[in-house]
Amino acid sequence: MRTQVGIVGAGPAGLLLSHLLALRGIDTVVVEIRSRAYCEARQRAGVLEHGSVRLLREAGLADRLDQQGLEHGGIYLQFAGERRHLDFRDLTGGRTVTVYAQTEVVKDLIATRLAAAGAVHFEVTDTGISGLETDRPLLSFTGSDGRRHEIVCDVIAGCDGFHGICRPAIPAGLLTVWEREYPYAWLGILADVPPSTDELIYAHHPRGFALHSLRSPTVSRLYLQVAPEEPVGNWPDERIWDELSLRFALGGWDLKQGPVLDKGITPMRSFVAAPMRYGRLFLAGDAAHIVPPTGAKGLNLALADVAVLAPAIDRLLRGDSGPADAYSATCLDRVWRATHFSWWMTTMLHRTPGADDMETALQLSQLRYVTTSRAAATSLAENYTGFSVLPRGDGG
Ligand code: FAD
Ligand code: PHB
Repeated sequence: MRTQVGIVGAGPAGLLLSHLLALRGIDTVVVEIRSRAYCEARQRAGVLEHGSVRLLREAGLADRLDQQGLEHGGIYLQFAGERRHLDFRDLTGGRTVTVYAQTEVVKDLIATRLAAAGAVHFEVTDTGISGLETDRPLLSFTGSDGRRHEIVCDVIAGCDGFHGICRPAIPAGLLTVWEREYPYAWLGILADVPPSTDELIYAHHPRGFALHSLRSPTVSRLYLQVAPEEPVGNWPDERIWDELSLRFALGGWDLKQGPVLDKGITPMRSFVAAPMRYGRLFLAGDAAHIVPPTGAKGLNLALADVAVLAPAIDRLLRGDSGPADAYSATCLDRVWRATHFSWWMTTMLHRTPGADDMETALQLSQLRYVTTSRAAATSLAENYTGFSVLPRGDGG
C-alpha cells in the first residue's frame, strides 16, 4: 500500500494535519490506537486562542465552533481575597479567546475527514515506523480486523502525543530534551451545572490553586491543585466541592454545585524535544512538547505546529525542502514562548509543597503587579490570547 503522508495519532494535531493536507490535494493515512468514541470523549483542553479560531475557520472547520463556541474577552485572577478582571480586548486591541472543548474540535475533525472519505484507522495495534532516513519511510500497523498493513510513505508525521512511539524512534543522542516536572497535579471535574462565572477564574489560595472553567451555558469544568501521587479515590465529590468552595470563596458570590460527570488527575510537566524532525519524520504537538495546562496552550501549540507543517510538506513533495528544513526552528520559537508563559503562570499560581512564606509573598506581589500595571497585564493578555501570529490554514 502507498500514501503520501502517514500520520500516527488521531488527536488534534494528526487530524488537522490530515485535513490541511487534503485541502492541498495530498493523500494521508491516519492510524490511532484508541477507538473513535474514546478520542471524541477524552476530556482535555477548553480554550482556543484567537489565531486557532481563525485557523479552524479558514480551514472550513468552524460551523459548530461559530455556533457553540463562547467568546471570552478576559479572565479573572483571584488572590488574597479579591477577584480582579483582566480585559484582553482592551489590552490587546481586540483579541479574545474562545471556549470550545477539545472533544468538540476532535469530533468536527473526525466527521470532516470521514465525510471526505479520508483514511482514519482506529483501534490499531503495533504501530511501527522505519526507513526514516530514506525518502520512502514505512508505516506499519495491525488493523482492528487483525490484518497487518505496511504503507510506503513520502513523509511520516508523528502526532502521537507524549507517550507515543515516534519521538523514541529518533536515534538516541540526536534529540536534545528539556524537562521539568512540577510537585503537584490537577484534579479536573466536568459538572452538570451552569458555570458560576462569565469568564474563567484562576485562583491563588493558601490551600493551592483552583480554576473555574466551563464547557457550555449548562456544563462547568473545574480544577484543583492536588498532590501528584494522590489517587482519585481520595476525592469523593463532596470533598471536591468543599475544597473548590473554599478556594474560590468570595463575599456575595456562591459556587453552584451539581452532578460530577467526569473526574481525572493530570500530572504537570514542561517538556521540549528538539529538533522536531529526523529525516522524513516530523513531530508535531504533544509528541514534541508538553506544557502545564495553566496557560491553556497545549492544544493551540498542536494546531500551530501542523499549520506550519502542512505547507512545508507540500513544498517538500514538490522538491523544495526549504520550509521543511525550517520547520523545527519555526515551531520552536512559538513553543518556547508558550513554555515560558505556561511555567510563569503555573509558578505564580500554585503552592509548592513545603514552600516558605517568601514564595507566597513573591507570588502575591506578581499577581498585584499584573492586575495593576497595564504593561504587565498586557504581557499576560498577549501571551494568553496568542503572542505569535499563527500561520494561515486555508491551504493558500
Ligand atoms: P494527543 O491529543 O495526545 O493525540 C495523540 C494521539 O495519538 C492520541 O489519540 C493517542 O491515542 C494516539 N497514539 C498514541 N500512541 C499511538 C500509536 N503508537 N499508534 C497510533 N496512535 C497513537 N491545551 C490547551 O491548549 N488549552 C487548554 O485549556 C488545555 N487544557 C488541558 C487540560 C488537561 C486536563 C489536559 C490533560 C491537557 C490540556 N491541554 C490544554 C493540552 C492539550 O489537551 C494537548 O496539548 C493536546 O491534546 C495535544 O494534541 P496532540 O494531537 O498533539 O496529542
Ligand atoms: C479547560 O477548560 O479545560 C481549561 C481552561 C483553561 C486552562 C486549562 C484548562 O488553563
